[in-house]
Amino acid sequence: MQKPVFLENHQVIQPSALYSEIEAGLLAEKASISPKFLYDALGAHLFTAITLVPEYYPTAVETSLLKQYKSEIAAAIGKNPVLIDLGAGDCKKAAHLFESITPSAYVAIDISVDYLKESLEKLQSQYAQIPMYGIGMDFSQTLELPDTITQAPRTFFYPGSSIGNFLPTEAEALLTQIKREALGGGLLIGVDLMKADHVLQVAYDDPLKVTAAFNLNILRSVNAIIDSNFDVSHFCHKVLVNQSKERVELYLEALRDTTVAWHGKQRVFKKGELIHTENSHKYTIASIQHLLNQSGFQALKIWTDPRQYYALIYAQ
Ligand code: AVI
Repeated sequence: MQKPVFLENHQVIQPSALYSEIEAGLLAEKASISPKFLYDALGAHLFTAITLVPEYYPTAVETSLLKQYKSEIAAAIGKNPVLIDLGAGDCKKAAHLFESITPSAYVAIDISVDYLKESLEKLQSQYAQIPMYGIGMDFSQTLELPDTITQAPRTFFYPGSSIGNFLPTEAEALLTQIKREALGGGLLIGVDLMKADHVLQVAYDDPLKVTAAFNLNILRSVNAIIDSNFDVSHFCHKVLVNQSKERVELYLEALRDTTVAWHGKQRVFKKGELIHTENSHKYTIASIQHLLNQSGFQALKIWTDPRQYYALIYAQ
């Protein structure tokens, strides 16, 4: 049986760097934890569960666009590219493209390596003819592909509106790196569009509380890294739709006065105090086109759903 190849990532993530990053965020006047710490083993599974929650529309809308426009997408991309999937997760979205674009190789990149291994092995058994590679990488820092990845033509696939989790300046820096690594190839990107408060509110604070569990789990993920003693039951999930900044903001709110300690350091949280955990920026067609242009790309094709909730864009 064909097995996916896991490539060594030369970008070394120092545990001490993660520790310092978390510590600095917790000790800041306005506490924050980077959203990348949402994705420990349980967090990766909880995110997959979110994508199945009916109120969280982005995955369903994007999947239907990928299915509906698969021939047009394939025509825009061209046949047999090396398909590079950023934040591949369960690798399910890329699989929608396999039949129409028949990639010469599939490269799945994700920060959650164990989860990626599980998903990629499953996928490889379904598509034995496609050579598959996995890379565990935090591409929010730098995106540099190992030389073993075929030079061209390369198509980057960045679905799920994950670009929205970056500040606009960071998003531009990442897209600029993608442009450089694409070596003249293209980018198929999914972007969530700005919309009414109530739709966003319930998408990020779903009635089953799956998103709440996903957000709260970041405290356990942090406990495991810095050996802190966050008590999840002392916090609750809070969502703010910030229309002026065109984003949804996720926080954890202290339900009572509580002190968190780790290795001789501590942080007191007063009842009602917030820890910022994630921004999810929403774009308009004009603002995403502008961002792509700033990064050296030009949007060649745009597909949207009838409600204009979401856009899939092919850029070169
Ligand atoms: C991964 N990312 C695009 C998701 C989003 O919508 O910003 C993460 C998420 N956070 C809460 N629900 C989903």
